[in-house]
Amino acid sequence: MRVTVIGTGYVGTVTGACLAYLGHRVTCVDTDEAKIAKLRRGETPIYEPHLPELLELAAGRGGIDFATELAGPVAESDVIFIAVGTPPLATGEADLSYLSAAAHGIGAAMDGSRYRVVVNKSTVPVGSGNLVETLVREGIAEASPAGHRGIDFGVASNPEFLREGCAVADSLYPDRIVVGAGDARTLELMRELYRPLVAQNFPPPPGAPRPASMGEVKLLAATLTSAEMIKYAANAFLAMKIGFANEIANICERVGAEAPEVMAGMGLDSRIGARFLNPGVGWGGSCFGKDIRALLHTAMEYGYEGKLLRASLEVNAAQRQMVVQKLQEKLFILKGRTIGLLGLAFKPDTDDLRDAPSLYLAERLLQMDARVRAYDPVAMAACREQRPDLKIRYSESALELAEDADALVVVTEWREFANLDLEQLAHAMTTPIMVDGRNLFSPAEAIAAGFDYTGVGRCPRPRTAASRPRRQAVG
Ligand SMILES: NC(=O)c1ccc[n+]([C@@H]2O[C@H](COP(=O)([O-])OP(=O)(O)OC[C@H]3O[C@@H](n4cnc5c(N)ncnc54)[C@H](O)[C@@H]3O)[C@@H](O)[C@H]2O)c1
Repeated sequence: MRVTVIGTGYVGTVTGACLAYLGHRVTCVDTDEAKIAKLRRGETPIYEPHLPELLELAAGRGGIDFATELAGPVAESDVIFIAVGTPPLATGEADLSYLSAAAHGIGAAMDGSRYRVVVNKSTVPVGSGNLVETLVREGIAEASPAGHRGIDFGVASNPEFLREGCAVADSLYPDRIVVGAGDARTLELMRELYRPLVAQNFPPPPGAPRPASMGEVKLLAATLTSAEMIKYAANAFLAMKIGFANEIANICERVGAEAPEVMAGMGLDSRIGARFLNPGVGWGGSCFGKDIRALLHTAMEYGYEGKLLRASLEVNAAQRQMVVQKLQEKLFILKGRTIGLLGLAFKPDTDDLRDAPSLYLAERLLQMDARVRAYDPVAMAACREQRPDLKIRYSESALELAEDADALVVVTEWREFANLDLEQLAHAMTTPIMVDGRNLFSPAEAIAAGFDYTGVGRCPRPRTAASRPRRQAVG
């Protein structure tokens, strides 16, 4: 099939590459000329493992190209995906201006030569499917006031569930595909588009092997409104699960329990599941905070107050602040102290800094007159470019970060950090204090290496006092 994907960010580029890899002929469109120029040169504008290789393979299968104008690609396409950003406004609601511009542009480019489906892949508030339909119609009417009656199209909602850092595998081997559609013809076209993905009958690309447990993928057909809600509900739940783990970890710290043990014990319950139960400095990224705020806003428009949703935001904000408190407990005075942040990206295997806990920490610590250094294997260039206001000193390695630092904070659990020589790091520091915001290290090993170690929900005290049976009082 002929496909256009509008927006070449984390979602659009991966979606375009995967659909072309599956055999569709894809054009990716973006208004950002620099991004399109990079993609045309065979470079990726974002850091995403295996994406450059997949783009190369995709060119040789269905075929993929890149454009800055949508008129030509839309006119030739059966399916047009909207994958533009929906960032938060100051009120918390989603900014739909990029979506609106794209939908209007699609309408203006349509003719009556074929039936097309306009698919919303951006995360959009409930009702946006209807808005897209209206905007496309308005675009059609403005572009061809006389001839718009012969132009037929459908609108679908196809929320995206990929995770940055493993977006290629998530897109090729999804847990499910959700399609919200108002009519059978639209749904049928979407089923046809996703047939190879549902059947899993394509050869896995090198670097993204098919999981052994992978069977047919469930395509869940829903109404437009339900599909839009599924995305928000899933993200809100995942954020809440992490928030719950953080809250339990905070109680564990106070009562002397080991949060990782507690989470392991909880996660073995098949009703709960082990994933998204790692306590830490809180979640970040472009989606959770933005989507919870947008859902709260929608609920408010309908006179409902989402108490759990609001608490989820509050717990997460407090968790970030907890790191500063731990540093204060260890160092007392933060003014003039040098704090090293190990990791900037909101999670490993991405260069995405949107709503990253590291940025909150850097801001707070700088406000408190501490000196902030950072080392990240991938995201330092993005941080320099996006946040020139933050007076961070960037280090070339974790060891350089540790040299003469008063404390290290593990903010991102990059794999390479797990193999660091802790003794060498501790030795290089002025005071070997570590706040392990991701519970990356074993407390015993960190302490043995010379660190004054604090994790999240962990009790690095020897167990003996708490676990030794009490001697019975005699007489
Ligand atoms: N990033 C994720 O992990 C993720 C996961 C699931 C869903 N989503 C959702 O997907 C959507 C896209 O997210 P993203 O992270 O890829 O965003 P992004 O900011 O990385 O990319 C959006 C792209 O759209 C382009 N754009 C904006 N207006 C345009 C227009 N009118 N025509 C053509 N291009 C236009 C921008 O230039 C940009 O390159 C959002 O709604 C987001 O909530 C994101």
